Amino acid sequence: MIRAEKCRLIYNEGTCALETFDLEINRGENVLIVGPSGSGKTSLLKLVMGMAYPTEGKFAVLGQNISKDQSKAIRKLRTQIGPIFQDFRLLSGRSVLDNVVLGMRFLSFSQSEMKVSATEAIERVGLGHKIHHDIDRLSWGECQRVAIARAISRKPKLIVADEPTGNLDEENAINVLKLLTSLSDSETTVLITTHATHLVKHVNATKVLTMNNGIERCVAMHEEL
Ligand SMILES: Nc1ncnc2c1ncn2[C@@H]1O[C@H](COP(=O)(O)OP(=O)(O)O)[C@@H](O)[C@H]1O
Ligand SMILES: [Mg+2]
Repeated sequence: MIRAEKCRLIYNEGTCALETFDLEINRGENVLIVGPSGSGKTSLLKLVMGMAYPTEGKFAVLGQNISKDQSKAIRKLRTQIGPIFQDFRLLSGRSVLDNVVLGMRFLSFSQSEMKVSATEAIERVGLGHKIHHDIDRLSWGECQRVAIARAISRKPKLIVADEPTGNLDEENAINVLKLLTSLSDSETTVLITTHATHLVKHVNATKVLTMNNGIERCVAMHEEL
């Protein structure tokens, strides 16, 4: 699913975001990526989404090499990824349903398939009763759930969430981590970053990556506890 070999990421002006690392994540895993601000969590997700290229070594996602000369294939790869961005990227003035359906454009769904998949996803995140509400009338936590529904409605092979615990109190942060980790199954892999290291023990992940200027440690969850 994700494989890195002697991979390293240095940004143009010389900041080394990810020191040399190897990594293997298998299909169906759900992985927590934890570490303080600036430790390279978002940079690792950028590699996964083909929004950054390794400076050295190899990085591959779903068998697709992430490199500059692969930009067309990487666009295709992204159709198999359901991203949940930190700022959600929802459209103001539109309903919950519209926002989720908009996330499915440019994929190979018919109009009616889009509506069915979007409705299922909205129900799965517990917002079925607000499906026709305007986005602007929802709380921050509800908007986050719309963003999660938009990711899963695409029926992706890989779900990627960057700092989903950002603005939440502890109880809601644990709930959203549990919701996200519950989305992995035999076909779907989930990657979640968080700086809230103390919440890790509440979540049932298959692996925990500890970040510090790159991947410092990668352990199976049961070894961690
Ligand atoms: N686009 C960029 N250009 C240059 N440096 C960057 C860029 N994005 C992040 N960095 C640097 O890379 C390091 C890792 O950042 P990031 O991956 O955003 O960490 P985290 O998500 O854990 O907070 C930091 O030192 C940050 O300043
Ligand atoms: Mg970040």
